[in-house]
Amino acid sequence: MQSTARLTRGCAPLLLRHTYCCIVARPDRHLFSSGAAAQLRRKQQSQQAPKGFQHVLRASATTTAPVLEKQEIEMAAPQPKYRKDYKPTPYLIEHVHLDFLLNEDKSTVKSKLHMTPNYGDASTPPKLELDGRKDIDLVSVSVNGSALADKDYERTDKKLSISNLPKGSFDLEITVGIKPQENTSLEGLYKSGGNFCTQCEAEGFRGITYFLDRPDVMSKYTTRIEADAKSYPVLLGNGNLLEQGCASEGRHYALWEDPFPKPCYLFALVAGDLALSEDVFKTMSGRDVTLRIYTEAKDIDRVSWAMESLKQAMKWDEETFGLEYDLDLFNIVAVSDFNMGAMENKSLNIFNSRLVIASPSTSTDLDYSRVEGVVAHEYFHNWTGNRVTCRDWFQLTLKEGLTVFRDQEFSSDMNSRPVKRIDDVSRLRTAQFTEDAGSMAHPIRPDSYIKMDNFYTLTVYEKGAEIVRLYRTLLGKDGFRKGMDLYFKRHDGQAVTCDDFRNAMADANDKDLSSFAAWYGQAGTPQVKVSPSYDASARTLTLKVSQNIPATPGQSQKEPVPIPLAVGLLAADGSDMPLHLQGEAGESGTTKVLLVEKASQEFVFTEVAEKPVLSALRDFSAPVKLQVEGQTDEELAFLLGHDSDPFCRWEAGQTLLRALLTKLYNAAKQQKESKLEDRLAAAGGVPETVSDAMGALLTSKELDGMFIAAGISLPAAAELIGSIPNIDPLLLHNVRKYVVQQLAARLRPQLEAVVKQNESAAGDTFVPGDFDQAAKRALKNKALGYLSALDDPRVSADLLERARSATNMTDQIAAVAGLCDSDCPERKTALEEFYKQWKDDSLVMLKWIGLQAGANVPGNLKNVEKLMEHPAFSITNPNACYSLFLSFLRSSVNFHAADGSGYKFIGDSVLKVDKINRQVAARIVSSSAFTALKDYDPERAQMMREQLSRISAENGLSENVFEIVSKSLES
Ligand code: ARG
Ligand code: ZN
Repeated sequence: MQSTARLTRGCAPLLLRHTYCCIVARPDRHLFSSGAAAQLRRKQQSQQAPKGFQHVLRASATTTAPVLEKQEIEMAAPQPKYRKDYKPTPYLIEHVHLDFLLNEDKSTVKSKLHMTPNYGDASTPPKLELDGRKDIDLVSVSVNGSALADKDYERTDKKLSISNLPKGSFDLEITVGIKPQENTSLEGLYKSGGNFCTQCEAEGFRGITYFLDRPDVMSKYTTRIEADAKSYPVLLGNGNLLEQGCASEGRHYALWEDPFPKPCYLFALVAGDLALSEDVFKTMSGRDVTLRIYTEAKDIDRVSWAMESLKQAMKWDEETFGLEYDLDLFNIVAVSDFNMGAMENKSLNIFNSRLVIASPSTSTDLDYSRVEGVVAHEYFHNWTGNRVTCRDWFQLTLKEGLTVFRDQEFSSDMNSRPVKRIDDVSRLRTAQFTEDAGSMAHPIRPDSYIKMDNFYTLTVYEKGAEIVRLYRTLLGKDGFRKGMDLYFKRHDGQAVTCDDFRNAMADANDKDLSSFAAWYGQAGTPQVKVSPSYDASARTLTLKVSQNIPATPGQSQKEPVPIPLAVGLLAADGSDMPLHLQGEAGESGTTKVLLVEKASQEFVFTEVAEKPVLSALRDFSAPVKLQVEGQTDEELAFLLGHDSDPFCRWEAGQTLLRALLTKLYNAAKQQKESKLEDRLAAAGGVPETVSDAMGALLTSKELDGMFIAAGISLPAAAELIGSIPNIDPLLLHNVRKYVVQQLAARLRPQLEAVVKQNESAAGDTFVPGDFDQAAKRALKNKALGYLSALDDPRVSADLLERARSATNMTDQIAAVAGLCDSDCPERKTALEEFYKQWKDDSLVMLKWIGLQAGANVPGNLKNVEKLMEHPAFSITNPNACYSLFLSFLRSSVNFHAADGSGYKFIGDSVLKVDKINRQVAARIVSSSAFTALKDYDPERAQMMREQLSRISAENGLSENVFEIVSKSLES
């Protein structure tokens, strides 16, 4: 998610011949002139400025920054694009031939585009407007072989417009010069670790050459890549290798052809010195596909897990959806400088190295499962994204929501389904629900954006996946498969919309799914209330269900959405009761999916023999916040002990803990005189219902360790922020810490026993993907985490010993992490030793940075500032930035320090990073509490606002950061 823009390099000769009117009408131009004309422009522009921009104008009036200069920048406020304005392009590009001459100083890109008219029967061919960037050096443009005259084209910072075009189809040839080695935004063509690579989604291709950079322009590509043979022995493109050979002066070339039409965001190129690991996959129709993974030579012996995952994913997609790979070669390239996780370029996936490289001694179990999930995700895009793509970027969830759903299902089938569901729901709840309640809240299909990169969000991805899951819940596995089949049958080779997907699901199942449109158009998390009442004489259970979606920026009124609510009823012995829904013939099994479509509705179960305990939202059947009226702690403990639905079982424990944390927080907040501990004890402390329930879970023989570890984890602070008004995050942190310490003290014998029982035997070898082993590690390390909260020197000594003797990274990092939040001598030793052991492994160093930056020891900010100067940290590397800044954001004690120092540090860092990499800078602000400042206590909210104003006042701020900051200032 992120501006290079502000790097001034290699500007082309200016071709501006605009009148003043043109300038005003073209919001994408940067205006830095002054004088009367500028003032007039300013006036007109501010009248048309988007809301966010107007706010910045207001904010600037209250600051003392140099006003005139600032206004000059504000005038050029970026304009949003709207979904409602979608229009097809007047031209399509049938075929693209690209010729790259890669060099150390300036690289040349020649493109030959076979253009076809798409403007109907207009008598004069319209203007062709190609997207570009101001740092592209335009060398030549010709149409059908003749160079264009000056009057036939014009160039602005973002466009190349060509007029007087011939009727019918024509060939357009453009030659440009670019400097990948200076590209620190990591969009378009850039260098990572000395190699050339690309990232074009969403709108990076326009940084490579002038083009119709939008997903509904699908073309067949051939690509010729030429570079020095010694420095860049590997030359990769999309599709099949047609030809390779020597060129002059020690150079060589490769010619690639991709037979499938694709939008330019799926274009990729790699040129470098890379090692390779190869394997073969036999497809269901018996074709052999060559699979290759490329990395720097030092990492090539750590790709076997990624390769294994790829083969599993290919097989799974054949078995589950009947989808086979469509070429004879599939390449993955790992690069260490990458803004996101990975990219599904046709047959040439490019990955952030942290999602390819894995070994037991350097990667945790979590790293292994991420590699598996993301390798699968990118592979699955070949059908959901590449063969069928998006008409415009507003439809991003069409491919991302669906592909996340697919990778979730794949991981569930490879590992434990309940644990995967719990992990996914936790992530949704801690991060997406927060986004959906903050200043950047948007529907899964947004209505507008300034920078598309800001919309690769948890909402589009994770909530989008939940919406896809709704169809599966409602239509069943077979119904969903029928819908998928029809979707591919209708739309293979097309660029389509979310409505097309919904229609395929509906038509294949002969169902009216039109009400589901509301899920695509509305932001905000629905709040669902269920009130059960049992009538013993009538033997009925009535469920009153109501829903409410809170207002979000720009959407004050909401309509109800269709919510599949899966419920079950538990008898006193803990068994599931058979269900009979009034108005339906026969029995409905033991789980019934109720479809809640109205603001409030009633459902009646009949033949209910005894007063049941309600188990609601089984398997988290919809992305909502559920409240069951009148539910007691005893009922929750009962569900935690007995529910046959593993998600609800886990959720009962979480609800119990959330309620406890909320109660204790409120008590602590009220009477501030005495010591916190005394206040919390006076409020009842941790009741036995809770510690007994946790103890029972901890010692359960029937449940697996991974599930137990999730069950005894306290809900994240992020789950409570927003539900408690004007929260003091430091107090919440201390209340959480108190609960952890109380539980640890009370359950100490059980925790210690669990550690012993789950210790891996000496000589055990780590088997990647072995669930039982991973489950043991998860439970043991969770127990150690609790024990570490006791601040007992014996525990610290034990953790240090574990950090030293660990034979795998999961155990090693858990031990070091256990020491990180306490100011004991072992902390320092453990961190130093860890550094010595791993300083040459940049991926492990990311963990080392993250552990320190996220620590909750008071006054840690100065250490974090020092870390920024450490050789292990590099501000131009996105992974290092994420490890440092995003971890720091999670430290309640230091980020939320009462003196505002944490906020200022993030404000400074965003500005610094923005000059290097706008996507990374935007990701830092959008992950911060700055986008949810209204949830915090007034003093903190004000300090956050000050940082936002300061950022917004910055000269040359990227559009990416501008969009987030201006929206946050508005909220
Ligand atoms: N399509 C990629 C994936 O999810 C992510 C690309 C992200 N690009 C961006 N500019 N945010 O698999
Ligand atoms: Zn994706």
